[in-house]
Amino acid sequence: MQQQYDQYTSDNHEVWQILYQRQVDNLTDKACPEYLQCLEDMYPHFQAAHIPNFTDVADLLHQKTGWGIEVVKGIIPVEDFVELLAQRRFPSSTWLRRRDQLDYLEEPDMFHDSFGHMPLLMHPLFAQFMEEFGKLGYQYRHNPNCIEQLQRLYWFSIEFGIIRSQQNKCKIYGAGIISSYGETNHIYAPNVEIVPFDLDTIIHTHFRTDQIQTRYFEIASFEQLFAAVGQLQNGYEAAKV
Ligand SMILES: [Fe+2]
Repeated sequence: MQQQYDQYTSDNHEVWQILYQRQVDNLTDKACPEYLQCLEDMYPHFQAAHIPNFTDVADLLHQKTGWGIEVVKGIIPVEDFVELLAQRRFPSSTWLRRRDQLDYLEEPDMFHDSFGHMPLLMHPLFAQFMEEFGKLGYQYRHNPNCIEQLQRLYWFSIEFGIIRSQQNKCKIYGAGIISSYGETNHIYAPNVEIVPFDLDTIIHTHFRTDQIQTRYFEIASFEQLFAAVGQLQNGYEAAKV
């Protein structure tokens, strides 16, 4: 599949502009510096003025870290998903939400997939972590228990992860938060719990996709995520699962 770039209407581009501008302004002091730097490095392919052209974005990602984009219709089977990640191909949809859906979607659209996920694929260590995650998932794709644990790790890090900055501030790196105006502000709400990243807790924590999170896991660095994949791998090998 390919992005049909000339099929986007002027209304699509305007919706993108609203989403992009609103969220860039909102993220200035809330997203982690690594994300913000990568986002800046994606200019002019990523900007408010127009929907990104995935051919250009993929070229840029490829130059920086060897990642590419695999256009998909929507959610794909987990074994296909991890296989793509293992090959440094990020699955992304190309449809954009409507103007009356700015704040809520049941399925991820291209704003989530691109604005949320792609910038950090420019970051060498994060890019490597995503590949290792994919490889581990692919290796254990027929083991439902391992896959469930990996889905939980993905959810509480790649989608909804928080990182402590060098200035000791709580910053966002998870794509599910980054691409959501409401959730970006929600993490600072008084009823929200932010706890230190703990792999064992995460792989045993059930998550729900139909409600906003009330607990987020905070890493100290991307190295910690990278190490978590290694720890899981060692555990699976030792248990011969
Ligand atoms: Fe996502």
